[in-house]
Amino acid sequence: MNWEIIVNSDYKDTVAETGNKLLIGNGYLGVRGTLDEHEKEELVAITLAGIYDKVGNGWREPLNAPNPFWSKIHLDDQLLTARSENVIFHEQNLQFRYGILIRETVWKTEKGNITLKTERYADINAVNKLHYRISLSSDQVMHLRLSTGINSDVWDIHGPHYKGVRLIEKDSCLACEALVQNDIDRVAVVREDTIAESSIYEKRLVTDESKIFNCYEIELNPHQSFELTSEIAIVTTKDHSDALNKAIQVCQSSSSSDKTNHLSKWDKIWNTCEVEIGGDEMAEMGMNYSLYQLNIAAPRHSKSLSIPARALSGQVYKGAIFWDTEMFMLDYFLWTQPEIAKTLIGYRIDTLSGALEKASQYGYEGAFYAWESQEGGFDACSDYNVTDVFTNRPVRTYFKDKQMHISSAIARGIDYYVQVTDDFSVLLEGGLITVIECAMFYRSLLLKPLLKDHFVINDVIGPDEYHERVNNNAYTNYMAHYTIKCAIEQAKAVMTLYPEAYLAIDKVNDISEKLKKLEAVVDKIYLPKPNEFGLLEQFDGYFTLEDITPDIAKSRLKHPKEYWGGGNGVASDTQVIKQADVLTLMEVRSDIFSPDVIEKNWHYYEPRTEHGSSLSACMYALTACRFNRPDLSYPFFLKSALSDLKGGGKQWAGLVYIGGTHPAASGGAWKSLIQGFAGLELSENEPLLSPNLPEHWQYLVFRINYKGKLIKIRINSVKGSYHILREEIK
Ligand code: BGC
Repeated sequence: MNWEIIVNSDYKDTVAETGNKLLIGNGYLGVRGTLDEHEKEELVAITLAGIYDKVGNGWREPLNAPNPFWSKIHLDDQLLTARSENVIFHEQNLQFRYGILIRETVWKTEKGNITLKTERYADINAVNKLHYRISLSSDQVMHLRLSTGINSDVWDIHGPHYKGVRLIEKDSCLACEALVQNDIDRVAVVREDTIAESSIYEKRLVTDESKIFNCYEIELNPHQSFELTSEIAIVTTKDHSDALNKAIQVCQSSSSSDKTNHLSKWDKIWNTCEVEIGGDEMAEMGMNYSLYQLNIAAPRHSKSLSIPARALSGQVYKGAIFWDTEMFMLDYFLWTQPEIAKTLIGYRIDTLSGALEKASQYGYEGAFYAWESQEGGFDACSDYNVTDVFTNRPVRTYFKDKQMHISSAIARGIDYYVQVTDDFSVLLEGGLITVIECAMFYRSLLLKPLLKDHFVINDVIGPDEYHERVNNNAYTNYMAHYTIKCAIEQAKAVMTLYPEAYLAIDKVNDISEKLKKLEAVVDKIYLPKPNEFGLLEQFDGYFTLEDITPDIAKSRLKHPKEYWGGGNGVASDTQVIKQADVLTLMEVRSDIFSPDVIEKNWHYYEPRTEHGSSLSACMYALTACRFNRPDLSYPFFLKSALSDLKGGGKQWAGLVYIGGTHPAASGGAWKSLIQGFAGLELSENEPLLSPNLPEHWQYLVFRINYKGKLIKIRINSVKGSYHILREEIK
């Protein structure tokens, strides 16, 4: 398989997309794939996981660390960049098997040709470390100047987040300590350079307002290149109270075995998850690249951290955690690297207090999770999440208040984790009470119409965000019911298997009382049923809305960046939906909807779906597999699997920039491949497979971790029948 992504140009209007595509990272940080000479205008960013700041009335967003890859080359006084006219070769090459980004640029000058090569990677083992190499060579004798060091003038969307920086040279390292506006956190970036003995140069230290760097005056000749190796450490006060000295220590602990260990760790990771698709190179590469994106976002260094909706590709979406993690990404980790799934769930368990507080602020009981969750479960979602393109005024949106399905995603994540792993420790260590509190939240939403014998849930937003404040969104009602049932069943399981632990949890949380309340309502929740045509109405009155296609809705836009939903959007009073809604329900609960009903709803809803969210396509891919139509599924699978490789996704919501990587689409692609085409599902004793592969695939090879055993599965497709081979691997 081709494990390289190559970009040969550097233009103003493609720099954002390239930055995403060539992202490297290790779950602690993500480094956008920008060039050494780039500045914040080119969206240079090293986005840190789980550390946030808010400036004034701006949105609270994650911090970008000062940039230790800042480098400029001058020939006489001419700055050489990838955009210079005399470039005769330029390439950025992401070797995504190992998360290594290599750059090579050759300039043809009057004095001779100059070649710059750089390499950078984020250490996958020691997550505070980054490694950088610069090599300069020439085919003639010449003099060059290389300035390279740390630049604290970082790209921020709602910054600046640093109120001051200290730039010093200490213990032979360049060091930058940035004090965050919140007056609490500090981010330390330290870099130590080693120059190959054969290099000929003079060095001078330069410090200005925002940068500390070494300026190397270099003599090059055809036999004498200049080779610099730089060890870098980034540490924040979240990691260590004395971030600066810790960073120096980490930086100086680098050794020549770091790279060998990095490569071998990546090989181990791929051993848990690599896929092979016979007869479809594009799908194979797209899928493995999607897994790369998930793997560089995975918080391996923590027991309680999650993955933001745009992973670590920048500050977009406030670096917040959405339902994307539990509904789209979790299954991949659960079936390949379950310890990471546990960390993702750990984050939700640890932020239960935030969810309890949010519920009580709205006058509900139980746990209402943040729609856009940051540290401690703080809901970063603004009341005004889009901007009107005509008036430039913020538009009141109700995502935070009304996307009540969020808590069911957390319950589903915990439930599925326990089902797949049989690891009850999650339930005993906070998971059970988390699910019960989610259930209590839904109970407190239930309303009883006077003349009915059931409870309804009114005034919500379902997965389709274009229709706000609707009643009885089928997805929400079914998921509320599922959550309550789940709480009751899990409590019973814990009571039976771990009676003492149950009593201890009960003593503190009074769960027996809560369970009685849940049992009293669980069978009375209104669960809308498919109509005489087999169609399930997305919410009360949806079928009465104007029935147009997304193309017609689009033709009504008066501005290309206009928001489609909310009060006045072109989709709001029509049946055009932003993303899979009923079909997301039918995927999550494919156990209760027949293939025939799923098929009918698929054909009804898909032509009405704008696919304006990267979460949409995979749900159509998955559900098409439920009624055995891999041919229908395939283009949606491919769309998800290529979402970051191809780029070109939606960049704007109103006037708000929403570009970045799409880990939910990556996770959704994995779900489509493994749970859709391969038909992986749980059964009592072993995972079951019911393959239905696209016709042009000769085989599919993948790996799963089932109860601690790593199993390689090969499905050979021979004239419409399948041979399945399973092999345990080390
Ligand atoms: C989608 C949400 C999703 C969010 C983050 C929005 O555009 O409508 O369902 O959670 O993006 O990916």
